Amino acid sequence: VNVVDNKQLPGVQGTALDRQDLLPALFDPRLDAINFLNEVIDRFPDAISFAPGAPFGGFFDDLDVGHYVDLYVRYLSEKQHLTAAQVRRRLYQYGPARGQINELLAGALRMDEQIEVAPRDIVVTVGCQEAMVLVLRTLCPGPNDMLAVVNPCFAGIAGAAKVLGIETLVVEESGDSLALDELEAACTMAREQGKRVRALYVAPDYSNPSGQLLDLDTRQRLLSLASHQDFLLIEDNAYGFTAHPDEALPTLKALDRARRVVYLGTCAKMCLPGVRVGFVVADQFVVDSTGETRLLADELALVKSMVTVNTSPICQAIVGGMILEKGGSLAAVGREKAGLYRRNLSMLLAALDRHVGPQAELLGVSWNRPKGGFFVRMRLPVTADEALLAACGSQYGVLWTPMRNFYLNDGGRFEIRLSCSYLTDEEIDEGVLRLALFLRAVCA
Ligand SMILES: Cc1ncc(COP(=O)(O)O)c(C=O)c1O
Repeated sequence: VNVVDNKQLPGVQGTALDRQDLLPALFDPRLDAINFLNEVIDRFPDAISFAPGAPFGGFFDDLDVGHYVDLYVRYLSEKQHLTAAQVRRRLYQYGPARGQINELLAGALRMDEQIEVAPRDIVVTVGCQEAMVLVLRTLCPGPNDMLAVVNPCFAGIAGAAKVLGIETLVVEESGDSLALDELEAACTMAREQGKRVRALYVAPDYSNPSGQLLDLDTRQRLLSLASHQDFLLIEDNAYGFTAHPDEALPTLKALDRARRVVYLGTCAKMCLPGVRVGFVVADQFVVDSTGETRLLADELALVKSMVTVNTSPICQAIVGGMILEKGGSLAAVGREKAGLYRRNLSMLLAALDRHVGPQAELLGVSWNRPKGGFFVRMRLPVTADEALLAACGSQYGVLWTPMRNFYLNDGGRFEIRLSCSYLTDEEIDEGVLRLALFLRAVCA
């Protein structure tokens, strides 16, 4: 251990660790992608930002957290017949690792998604992010256990696999489907090399970052491939709630008849991100050498008890109160928000058509047209890296996310992600106007 001068605080000396001795994943630049974006947003505070996938802030202007806690407390005392002392213990003490709003979540899954699971199949987590870490750590204990991931993908799953040292296998998107033949071949090849693909992470409904919606046929084929090749599907449904009610497709978990799907949910978008509540449905059977059977959820709860002990009961109470207020439906909590996001998305697409469309071909620029989710993916004829983003922020006052950050291989160098969730109507229009000026300057 060296003692060195601290460059940030001149004159202050302290213990210096060699970075080479720390977690190798720290050297992966993608791990820093979110910090980098926050830093860019701070550096150009007047810029209009299509970068963050965060919910619209206006939803929280009048949010009364106490009201939801009260609703949950009333439910505990009137419906569950708990005494005042028992209610206090539920809210203020340590609680069960698997969570305490499991029954409400199971009811909401039944009502909203036609997913039939028992409260015991669910573990309430500190955001969906913790669920990812618990599932990956539990399913992939050894060096030969691999995670297949749809590419490009949510930075949180790729980052979690990196931090845990789990090898990933890339499955490419292809229109509204996936490269399933390649996945099947990769599973076979992995087996021949003594490895096993334990699971595929997939977000079938308006994925982050590409806005992809998998068609019904692909969903069915995925389920049968998973069964044939004996891997699990880890379904992330963060954006399914934004689908137009007439266009919603059944989730993989709703189609699953064989307990092949581990389902990840988040309350960040339908309720609020600050509550940090997510959940995982893990109804798979686990059999030990004596023949005793448990649930995967039991094992995840065991691991969770050594990671975060339990999800904050007060935060669970807030989510519980929100669900209760909407008659047991989580989708109903997100309904008004979903309407705004769909409107924002069509405003963003209309503004792109108006301000960029007439010259798009000439400039070599194109974009997809998702019907839900938060994101539009745009292809440019130039490398869309951090330097270009900084130039765009300083000279044109508009920000976006380089898609490169979401790829597990070297893809995405010519793509950007535009998020519509965070901005007002005026900001979307003005932002696209600025983006059009920038594109004319750099792509001409
Ligand atoms: C695909 C995906 N999954 C999950 C989450 C949310 O996770 P959490 O509940 O940890 O906020 C996000 C948020 O951006 C996301 O885009």
